[in-house]
Amino acid sequence: MKKIVALLLSLVMMLACVSALADGQKVGVSMPTKDLQRWNQDGENMQKLLEAAGYEVDLQFASNDVQQQLNQVTNMINSGANVVVIAYDRLLMESDAVSYYATFDNYKVGTVQGTYIKEALDLDNAEGPFNMEITAGDPGDNNANYFYSGAMDVLNPYIEAGKLVVKSGQTAFSDVATPTWKTEVAQTRAEGIVSSYYADGSNIDVWLCSNDSTALGVENALEASYDGEWPIITGQDCDISNVKNMIAGKQSMSVFKDTRTLAEQVVKMVGQILAGETVDVNDTETYNNGKITVPSFLCEPVFADVNNYEALLVDSGYYTADQLK
Ligand code: BGC
Repeated sequence: MKKIVALLLSLVMMLACVSALADGQKVGVSMPTKDLQRWNQDGENMQKLLEAAGYEVDLQFASNDVQQQLNQVTNMINSGANVVVIAYDRLLMESDAVSYYATFDNYKVGTVQGTYIKEALDLDNAEGPFNMEITAGDPGDNNANYFYSGAMDVLNPYIEAGKLVVKSGQTAFSDVATPTWKTEVAQTRAEGIVSSYYADGSNIDVWLCSNDSTALGVENALEASYDGEWPIITGQDCDISNVKNMIAGKQSMSVFKDTRTLAEQVVKMVGQILAGETVDVNDTETYNNGKITVPSFLCEPVFADVNNYEALLVDSGYYTADQLK
């Protein structure tokens, strides 16, 4: 009997999908968009590794369009009898058809960002108060809440104690979210915050950003409209523009999620499923998608800043030194 493995990544209801046909050894990969660097990389890595493992690969991008991606996925799995679905990086919500989930530890990404801020400002000892603003991710992406919660669980006690002050008053996830993670959306909101709350010359000491595309928007906004001292800014992904900004002193840190690691893990899981072997998971409790708790494999996110980026990104071959110039 044919067996199909589908790897799906959700964005609102959006997917990145890999469907593998056991007998035909064909794998379909559907990523959400080409707009953001990371999904191009993920797609490329998946293709490279799957081809090296002997599969034929059909890689597609869905232009952030739910219907388009559903059509892609439907076409990919049409010919199969049994479908095993693996969510790739983003959990597919409200479906009991998801068998596995491979991602990075999303809550930990937020914890790393929050802890960085806590330590950089020495919040336990410094007098403060410090001004902070917050930019989070896409409300339609299940990961975004984990990033936000991980960071806010570290920082909330200091907000409650008055050591961190959010002058805009915008702290709830719904107030700080960035639909589709778009740089321009984050930039427009940040410009509004700067002109409404910091035109009096007060400094922004820290801007918590959930990822690099939103951090870039905040950095662009500050460059255009802010005269105070440059704040601590967090990020995630080590996108090329953001690593350049780290080198230039415009972004303090990022969280490196080596997409090669995730791709390797997923290819391994595909192989295990197709061989009928036990599938590698290391978390069976965290990721409930509204219908079921999906057995997951969480890869480790890694702290990155100007001091370790060369070892992490260049020496490891993730980027060439030239790409970061
Ligand atoms: C990913 C992040 C990424 C964001 C925007 C999230 O689902 O986990 O790494 O920054 O999407 O692409």
